[in-house]
Amino acid sequence: MKLLVTGGAGYIGSHVVRSAEQNGHECVVIDNLSTGVSSRISCPLVQLDLAAPTAVADLNALMKEHRFDAVIHLAARKQVGESVQIPETYYLDNLGGLANLLLAMKANDVKKLVFSSSAATYGMPDVDKVDEDYPGRPINPYGETKLIGEWMVKNAKVWGLRGVNLRYFNVAGCGPKELADTAALNLIPIAINALKAGKAPIVFGTDYPTPDGSCIRDYVHVQDLAEAHVAAVDYLERDDRPFDTFNVGTGEGASVIQVLDQLKISSGINFEYQISDRRAGDPPRLVAKVERIQEVLGFKAKHGLEEIVSSAWAAS
Ligand SMILES: NC(=O)c1ccc[n+]([C@@H]2O[C@H](COP(=O)([O-])OP(=O)(O)OC[C@H]3O[C@@H](n4cnc5c(N)ncnc54)[C@H](O)[C@@H]3O)[C@@H](O)[C@H]2O)c1
Repeated sequence: MKLLVTGGAGYIGSHVVRSAEQNGHECVVIDNLSTGVSSRISCPLVQLDLAAPTAVADLNALMKEHRFDAVIHLAARKQVGESVQIPETYYLDNLGGLANLLLAMKANDVKKLVFSSSAATYGMPDVDKVDEDYPGRPINPYGETKLIGEWMVKNAKVWGLRGVNLRYFNVAGCGPKELADTAALNLIPIAINALKAGKAPIVFGTDYPTPDGSCIRDYVHVQDLAEAHVAAVDYLERDDRPFDTFNVGTGEGASVIQVLDQLKISSGINFEYQISDRRAGDPPRLVAKVERIQEVLGFKAKHGLEEIVSSAWAAS
């Protein structure tokens, strides 16, 4: 298939492009290179801001030139804290960009879309494992843009769009080194950066109701996540299931302290960590129920925590 991948020069997007190409798909990337890196990809790159006033016209021209079979939409701002500081910019970029994309897809009869959503749509769920039907109550503008984005995809069924929302859990690790995550926004890259700077990684809160007191998350390897996108594109070929939402995780939780213990092994450095107060808005536990994606897409993550942390360390 011929795929349009927005945000394809980003950390996850470039892994998605690699996987799609390895599975025989042809890709064209749109990216404004705000955080993306053009050298991560070798397919055609169109530098375009999806939220710009001219975006629909530019997308129309691009979609007329290439007859895309499907779109994978990853382009977005993704910093939770920043989204609290500049919410309008998040609504404009994440929702305006998606609205522009949908307008152009509708005008050009492109009717298959995979949308990058997030476990941030759930907010603070108080369940052992969260399933896709759990009512979404995001607690910051970033999570809101992802939940509203899912609704936009669902509502486009009215003109025949087939859509898949993929709710990523904690994405980490690396495939080829040149695709590494360059933004240290999540635990694993932050801890690696701290270690490389000779500082102690920080554990925010050890008084949560979890076995070791630190927060538990579901870490999914970026290469597994990329494969989930390829499975979702295949799914969109099926006439019987026009729309669905899937968690993408492993179904296994790891605590902050367990991740740091794995980092000690992967790095060979026996470091001490520093304990700090809880951060606002961190749920104690956020782990995916993954039965739906296994049953419907036949997707199961292959990599565990050891491969995630070791590959991130090796790429750093
Ligand atoms: N990294 C995670 O843990 C995580 C978790 C859940 C969801 N997500 C979602 O996955 C997607 C990709 O995230 P990532 O970690 O690869 O981040 P990233 O910043 O590396 O990638 C985002 C890409 O989109 C591009 N972009 C941003 N705004 C754009 C715009 N207006 N027009 C065109 N291009 C634009 C950036 O230049 C970048 O290449 C995002 O939608 C993010 O919200 C990420």
